[in-house]
Amino acid sequence: MRVILCNIELVYTESLLLKIIKLNAVDSTNSFLKEMTQNYSVENFTTVVAEAQYEGRGQANKKWFSEPCKNLIFSTFVSFSNFFIRDQKYLNFAVALAVFKTLNAYQIPLLKIKWPNDILSANKKLCGILTENTIQKDKITSSIIGIGINVNQEEFPKEIPMASSIKKITGKKMDLENLLQELLENLKKYLNLLVNDKFKMLENQYLEVLYKKDIPAMFKDAEDKLFMGIVKGIATNGNLQVELENSCIQEFGLKEIKFM
Ligand code: BTN
Repeated sequence: MRVILCNIELVYTESLLLKIIKLNAVDSTNSFLKEMTQNYSVENFTTVVAEAQYEGRGQANKKWFSEPCKNLIFSTFVSFSNFFIRDQKYLNFAVALAVFKTLNAYQIPLLKIKWPNDILSANKKLCGILTENTIQKDKITSSIIGIGINVNQEEFPKEIPMASSIKKITGKKMDLENLLQELLENLKKYLNLLVNDKFKMLENQYLEVLYKKDIPAMFKDAEDKLFMGIVKGIATNGNLQVELENSCIQEFGLKEIKFM
């Protein structure tokens, strides 16, 4: 059996009426929500949250591990009426900024967005985002935005030394339900900015908090070769722009560069 227990709640927040599907355990909230959208008509902002995931999925086919009941793991369905694929990087900015601003309100120290959309505190990863888009011709018609935030987990496997949690960093335990509502409100707010005249503003806000922006740093390329560079910005196609030692700007895709 895939879902152990399911509760559907309607949650009224200050500005939103949300349909939240609460699961005890599921393979992946992204996969569950994707299947729902394939079989039923799903309302905008429908959210699936789970206490545990046994096949959590991360970027680049990696797994996402999360101790049951300790963290926030959820996926939200959003539909778009007129959003072009060419503007996809702004969707990434909006989602990352929504999480960043939510966590920033809790005075979590040294928060940064690490390209493309990890949220770090003091160089440790607190949050990962996996956005899966449905595309028709040149438009993104809907997205499933999957967010995993390490909240109250205190021990992490040694295989993921970069991982940490809000509890580990601030010493404070957080209420997962309140945090989810705040995140969803900010998600709504930032996704509403996905209109042409707000793109530049989203990009500026993202670049302001981008990890290692304008700081000389060490990277590894796809062949594991180390090199020095300076993060300068994000290209139209979403690639990372890095200034190399010869002053040329080179663009890198997700699998082509690693921060060291
Ligand atoms: C990353 O690799 O950093 C992205 C991790 C995304 C994890 C979240 S947890 C909720 C949702 N369901 C999944 O299977 N993945 C995302």
